[in-house]
Amino acid sequence: ETGELVGRIEAVRKQLGDSLLILGHHYQQDEVIAHTDLRGDSYQLSQMAAASDACRTIVFCGVHFMAETADILANRPEKLESRGGQRVRVILPDMAAGCSMADMAAIAQVEDAWEDMSEVIDTDRVIPVTYINSAASLKAFCGKHGGIVCTSSNAKAVLEWAFERGDRVFFFPDQHLGRNTALKMGITEDQMPVWDPYEMELGGNDDQALERSRVILWKGHCSVHQMFRPEHVHQFRKQHPGIKILVHPECPREVNDLADVSGSTGLIIKTVQESPAGTKWAIGTELHLVNRLKAEHPEQEIHFLSPVVCMCATMYRIDLPHLCWSLENLRDGTPVNTIEVPEEVTRWSLVALERMLSVK
Ligand code: 13P
Ligand code: SF4
Repeated sequence: ETGELVGRIEAVRKQLGDSLLILGHHYQQDEVIAHTDLRGDSYQLSQMAAASDACRTIVFCGVHFMAETADILANRPEKLESRGGQRVRVILPDMAAGCSMADMAAIAQVEDAWEDMSEVIDTDRVIPVTYINSAASLKAFCGKHGGIVCTSSNAKAVLEWAFERGDRVFFFPDQHLGRNTALKMGITEDQMPVWDPYEMELGGNDDQALERSRVILWKGHCSVHQMFRPEHVHQFRKQHPGIKILVHPECPREVNDLADVSGSTGLIIKTVQESPAGTKWAIGTELHLVNRLKAEHPEQEIHFLSPVVCMCATMYRIDLPHLCWSLENLRDGTPVNTIEVPEEVTRWSLVALERMLSVK
């Protein structure tokens, strides 16, 4: 059956030619990656969508917030104008491919938090920063309030941008990326209170915590990266002397602090590609990417950092049957699963996304 699906997918790709662009995130399974035109980390994928000129449709093998971002960037005003008003259609092969971290921050909760905070601190001097792993409405919130979007590959540069414009940063939804990045900039844990959206509080004395804050973190996390623990690092170091630990900054602080290298999926791949034969790695990120690196680099010794399986169940929802179904419907003129961000949200999200793309 897989062989038949592969043939059908390739037939549509051939028929649609350059009018179709299939993008894939590094966490996608191998059999899906095999059909992508381009793959990347979240930042690279945003750049690819922003640069797409020839295509009429982007089929996004990734998760919902990535497809939203692609829709916003591929259809920004100057692109629409250059295409005579013709929109690029963005398709997510399975609508259930969400992100549990993105779901941990809803726009109403962010607005409530902002209002609550404004009773204690001057929010005109607070720069909201949303991790790209968030709904477009949160990006729009950042656009409206002088804020910006970041990814795991530019978080430090983005926070520096923010501190040039304000005194504090409100960072959502991933507390770990926010904390790990701020620590690298010399900000201390007691200057980073964590906002709990369900309790509507920071814990301890809220007012004092807010007043001394530099970065206000949101109590959100990635359920995949949360699984990596410091004891896994200790065990690998004990059992494999000389091993290097390579992790994603969505891992908790205790793991990040012990790692040799921490960075986006793009950086993780580059680090392995540039390492000499015989290098030993324990890698703390999504399972499919680690397994692919293992297969592509038999000259190195690559281990998965956790003894338990950590895979992203929503990334995994994109499979050959869904890809084939969405492609054949597109070819037959009955497109399914189009992601189209409402105009007002698009306008303000774009402000925050363009700020991000301008940060070097
Ligand atoms: P990056 O590919 O940008 O590192 O993001 C990782 C991730 O968790 C995507 O959801
Ligand atoms: Fe979301 Fe984590 Fe999956 Fe990335 S790996 S899509 S952050 S749940």
